[in-house]
Amino acid sequence: MDRNWLVAGIIAAFIWTFSLGAAMTDPVLQSFFNAHQIISYKKISVGDSCDHVYKLRGKKNLFILKVLNLRRPLQKRRAVVRMTAWAGCEGLGPKLVWHDKTYHYMVMSFSKGRYLRPEDLKNPAIFEKVVVCMRKAHAASPSHVSGVSSYPLKVRALRRGEEVMSYEVHNFAQIFERLKDQFFNGTGDTCCNTISHADIKVGNILLEKGNCPMLIDWGEVTLASLYDDLGSFAHHFKLNIHQEKHLLTLYLERTPHAEEINHLQAHRRFAALNEAFWKMRVFCEKSKKNIITMNKSIDFLQGFL
Ligand SMILES: Nc1ncnc2c1ncn2[C@@H]1O[C@H](COP(=O)(O)OP(=O)(O)OP(=O)(O)O)[C@@H](O)[C@H]1O
Ligand SMILES: [Mg+2]
Repeated sequence: MDRNWLVAGIIAAFIWTFSLGAAMTDPVLQSFFNAHQIISYKKISVGDSCDHVYKLRGKKNLFILKVLNLRRPLQKRRAVVRMTAWAGCEGLGPKLVWHDKTYHYMVMSFSKGRYLRPEDLKNPAIFEKVVVCMRKAHAASPSHVSGVSSYPLKVRALRRGEEVMSYEVHNFAQIFERLKDQFFNGTGDTCCNTISHADIKVGNILLEKGNCPMLIDWGEVTLASLYDDLGSFAHHFKLNIHQEKHLLTLYLERTPHAEEINHLQAHRRFAALNEAFWKMRVFCEKSKKNIITMNKSIDFLQGFL
């Protein structure tokens, strides 16, 4: 038994080293490593993204290297790099340090902040800073994402629902039809011309010294309604009804109208359903055996109806 574990460990270490080595021996990256005296690197394990993230240790500084998957179109990789650079300059995110010409590699300064948590938002000063940070980010010029087509959260959620449909999950077809009738058809804000981070969640907002929020991970950036980010924020940070209204009041700098509150709630539902469909899809891809997990997701969706 011990011997088997040893062999498995050696194989795992070999695969790990080899997979890291492939990217790290690229001469383009090596030139950055030499210029910034990088002495070690460590892969940061992440969630669902197709990009790889590494922490780099230089003689003087720490950095984050993001290797953007070449399966993403060049325009999309360029948009990610440009928005990261812009957010860094505006003090809304870590500074961009370097990128290569093909937008495959992007290096940022390392933020010593920690993840923003829902309970942090009980502090009114933090709440306000985060809302202002999102509003400023939305004011970025759409030219940063030129060549990237608009991909609203509603469309994304529906697409994920369709993907789950293709796995023929028991009961899902009926539930999906009802969800579409009740929550998707004719709901939400139809404007699609604001820069949208499109992945606002715990894990993508860091809180730095002085309670300064930093947006990271522009990997999904697109043009969409401003309510996509606000709805995602409300969902992932579990805002209560008073916080929702406060969010809009701070964002709009006035009392929100009934229609604006409806938009926020509609987009919050898109975010919740998008997450539920995504989890189901990941589950379907992996295995259909764990029926308990699947039933939990179905129960969640039924709770919506
Ligand atoms: N500039 C930074 N400073 C400090 N930590 C960072 C920085 N950028 C990323 N990280 C860390 O690396 C993690 C993954 O980075 P990022 O969110 O950009 O990648 P991702 O592959 O899109 O991840 P996910 O799919 O989980 O959102 C972050 O959650 C954070 O912990
Ligand atoms: Mg992330």
